[in-house]
Amino acid sequence: MPEMRPPRPGELAIELPDQFDASLYFIGRIRTPWKTLAECPKSTSLRRDVEATVEVDPRYILALKDVQLLSHLILLYWLDRSARNLVLQAPSHVPEPRGTFALRSPVRPNPIGLAVVELVKVDGSKLTIRNIDCLDGTPLIDIKPYHASSDSVPDARRP
Ligand SMILES: C[S@@+](CC[C@H](N)C(=O)[O-])C[C@H]1O[C@@H](n2cnc3c(N)ncnc32)[C@H](O)[C@@H]1O
Repeated sequence: MPEMRPPRPGELAIELPDQFDASLYFIGRIRTPWKTLAECPKSTSLRRDVEATVEVDPRYILALKDVQLLSHLILLYWLDRSARNLVLQAPSHVPEPRGTFALRSPVRPNPIGLAVVELVKVDGSKLTIRNIDCLDGTPLIDIKPYHASSDSVPDARRP
């Protein structure tokens, strides 16, 4: 796993801290058709047609009780093949480098990905979903209900 990547022109890398402050449990894996970074959609909205599977570790099966009542879920996942050392980044779609915390780039100190997914089906510890953008086998770190009343800000400003 490449924790460091050399900065490209306009980007800035920093030294990462010597040690981690916390640890976590992967609760499952996300299975998608995409085996390489180049194949992955750049955002969750780009391949709404594609179904993917969330394979939750069966030890958490009781934690899935009532999940089938929800139409949409928030998935938090670990972008395990990302560098973590850049604070300024120059993605091709922005004119000037931007701060990492102003970007949805997978390159960040803690490479946590977030997606609001449509829940299609629950079958035991397997969830069929739509609206995901990650590599096949990406580790899952949490599942939460999506609440449109509090999580949606339709007129939010963005550059
Ligand atoms: C722009 S990021 C957005 C991730 C998430 N939807 C978010 O907003 O936090 C999506 C990109 O991350 C990259 N990616 C997907 N899975 C990854 C993984 N397991 N490790 C590292 N990079 C990954 C792919 O290039 C994909 O196009």
